Amino acid sequence: MSLNILFLNGPNLNLLGQREQSQYGSITYEELKKKCEEKCRDLNIKIDFIQSNVEGEIVSIIQSANEKFDGIIINAAAFTHTSVAIRDALEIYKKKKIEVHISNIYKREEFRQKSLISDVVNGGIFGLGSEGYILAIIAMHKLLKNENK
Ligand code: DQA
Repeated sequence: MSLNILFLNGPNLNLLGQREQSQYGSITYEELKKKCEEKCRDLNIKIDFIQSNVEGEIVSIIQSANEKFDGIIINAAAFTHTSVAIRDALEIYKKKKIEVHISNIYKREEFRQKSLISDVVNGGIFGLGSEGYILAIIAMHKLLKNENK
């Protein structure tokens, strides 16, 4: 049986390629989505790769993920630093969770150095560019495979 994962992207990540290339590189959102979908195909994982600029929408998506998805990978983007609601929704979701950031949030402005979600996820990847997305998929695959042993 193939695994199902949800890859959730927060605000402004749809503008990858246009926004601060020194932090996020030149890859576009569509290119990144394709790269992740290809990796998942190789690993026999079904992926829903979603982006939203709306906090409440992200909360609702996480709430409804329980039935359909074996794990969530999330780049909550700016909501990482502000959203108790997304944190609470993730805490309620009891399956595997990985946090990812393209940039190294701990080397940036002070307000980015606090993640409200790090302590409610299994683990995180930050500062490795768009490659971090692929590494998060590999890590999720391993977590889920070990779980089903
Ligand atoms: C980000 C880091 C956040 O601070 C920022 O608001 C983003 C992207 C990252 O992937 O590095 O939008 O989550």
